[in-house]
Amino acid sequence: MCGIVGYVGNKDVLSVLLVGLERLSYRGYDSAGIATLAQGELFVRKEVGKLRTLGAALEGKPVRGELGLGHTRWATHGAPSQENSHPHTDCSGRIAMVHNGIIENYHELRQQLMREGHIFKSDTDTEVMVHLLERYLTPELNFLDALRRTLKDVRGSYAVAIISEMLPGSIFVARQGSPLVVGLGADENFVASDVAAMVGHTRDIVYMEDGEMAAITKQAVVFYNVAGEELIKQPQVVEWDTTQIDKGDYDYYMAKEIFEQPTVARSVLSRKLGPGGLINLGDLGHFSKADLSKVTRIIIQACGTSWHAGLVAKYWFEKYTRTYTEVDISSEFRYRSAILDPSTLVMAITQSGETADTLAGIREAKSKFLPVLSICNVEKSSIARESDGVIFTEAGPEIGVASTKAYTSQLLAIYLLTLYLAQVKWTLSPEEVQTKINDLKTIPGKMEIVLAQNDQVKRIAQRFAHSRDYIYIGRGFDYPTALEGALKMKEISYIHATGYPAGELKHGPIALIDEEMPVVCIATKGYWYEKMLSNIQEVKARKGMIIALGTEGDDNLARLADEVIWIPPVAEDLAPLLTALPLQLLAYHTAIKLGCDVDQPRNLAKSVTVE
Ligand code: AGP
Repeated sequence: MCGIVGYVGNKDVLSVLLVGLERLSYRGYDSAGIATLAQGELFVRKEVGKLRTLGAALEGKPVRGELGLGHTRWATHGAPSQENSHPHTDCSGRIAMVHNGIIENYHELRQQLMREGHIFKSDTDTEVMVHLLERYLTPELNFLDALRRTLKDVRGSYAVAIISEMLPGSIFVARQGSPLVVGLGADENFVASDVAAMVGHTRDIVYMEDGEMAAITKQAVVFYNVAGEELIKQPQVVEWDTTQIDKGDYDYYMAKEIFEQPTVARSVLSRKLGPGGLINLGDLGHFSKADLSKVTRIIIQACGTSWHAGLVAKYWFEKYTRTYTEVDISSEFRYRSAILDPSTLVMAITQSGETADTLAGIREAKSKFLPVLSICNVEKSSIARESDGVIFTEAGPEIGVASTKAYTSQLLAIYLLTLYLAQVKWTLSPEEVQTKINDLKTIPGKMEIVLAQNDQVKRIAQRFAHSRDYIYIGRGFDYPTALEGALKMKEISYIHATGYPAGELKHGPIALIDEEMPVVCIATKGYWYEKMLSNIQEVKARKGMIIALGTEGDDNLARLADEVIWIPPVAEDLAPLLTALPLQLLAYHTAIKLGCDVDQPRNLAKSVTVE
């Protein structure tokens, strides 16, 4: 998962590239580099480390250009280093290439090219492609044909952009398995891994499909299919503006996105709920009410936080629609030869719509002629475009690597789908559905009440910031929340944190409890409350430090816990929409206290587009 950006036009090329890379840096930030062409001369500058390192190097020694490419890297093959940074050049130094994806047969290609005398400067898979291109660039083959010939030799995924001194006015791009979009401007054109890099320059976006290539100049963009025939592709108008992708008054995107959740929830509910229990899920495409009424089994596949949303979905789907539901981690689902029959509904849950394993999972289902319903936050993303029906979570762009508003908007979409299925399958009466809709409408206001405890959570975070480990426990709907809280903590503060079903403590994890161990206990009022109190007693008997998440007014819990964070009274099945918020804040403030990079945690990237 790297970020690519390209520009040809009359603006300051360096500025367009660096701003674009800043907006793509959530895709990977191990190193960054740019290549420009100025009066036919190629300049390449690249630095290991965050984008600001490259920026500083360029400040001291800027490069000029009429066009250029930029790349921000998440290392797959070859450690983060200056040599392994993109762009990569051929032996002549006249061709520069940036790449997002994985070339699976790079090793054999590299050996072959070295035997032919090519000198490699890096350990990356990408570099084999630029040397292959050099090999095929003969007088008989024009640049695009040479690129097509190159891509025939490689196996794997790529979004590539190339510039060269041979054709100084053009950028050549190709897409297979990794996202690539083209932005159309007046006397300028853009290419990038996603729209964020072009916001503020153009709203006319063309989404490239697998197998497609394009030649981009200032005046025009010509698209080609895999056979080399010209393609006519219609641009889509994307209504993003810069306020959606800037931090505003916040220090970090994650903070902005945590505090946006009530607004997002309010906006989503206003758009998806109508009068008289009407639930508008958007374009379900292939899935008619008749189709959905015949569903007897649901398989959800997702990764990370989205998988946690799937676990919550299981409780809701089974309890309210009486539909057997399995939840798979995508990297397992895609290889386990799952038993899929025509009455199975395969679902994908994904924020980015580009997660390689989840994308492979839906392709696996479609290869067995099963339609796929996805819950996704990014329109026109690969998964959104390849699904047979999509429910968009409409959380707006989520830039922070740690998913927050996307998670709660996924839960909202899933709960609305639950009620929709319950209507279709008559497993809930209209009165029961209406009651749940009324409860749902209170969530945005209750989210605001929870977030108002920010200072209390910050104090707790600072008290336990130097803990070696964290354990999170919950039952029922709160068990997935325990997993989600632990993921937030580990991925941005690097503290080892694990979530367990509270009933599992006695089966091993309780051995970890001592006076140094903070245990986050999600004990909101509901069906499992008494059982949770017993688990808290077990932790207390072993001197564990108890950070309880409870329902306001629960004095009993307050007496038992070392620290308490409250949520307002809420229908117990909606608690996951509230309990996630203080756990996001707990992780956020812990990471700040420890001086971690909240938006760009080490080793991670926002969208995992490689398996
Ligand atoms: C969440 O905080 C993580 N950044 C990560 O687990 C993420 O949820 C996962 O990679 C799935 O991404 P997706 O929702 O875009 O498919």
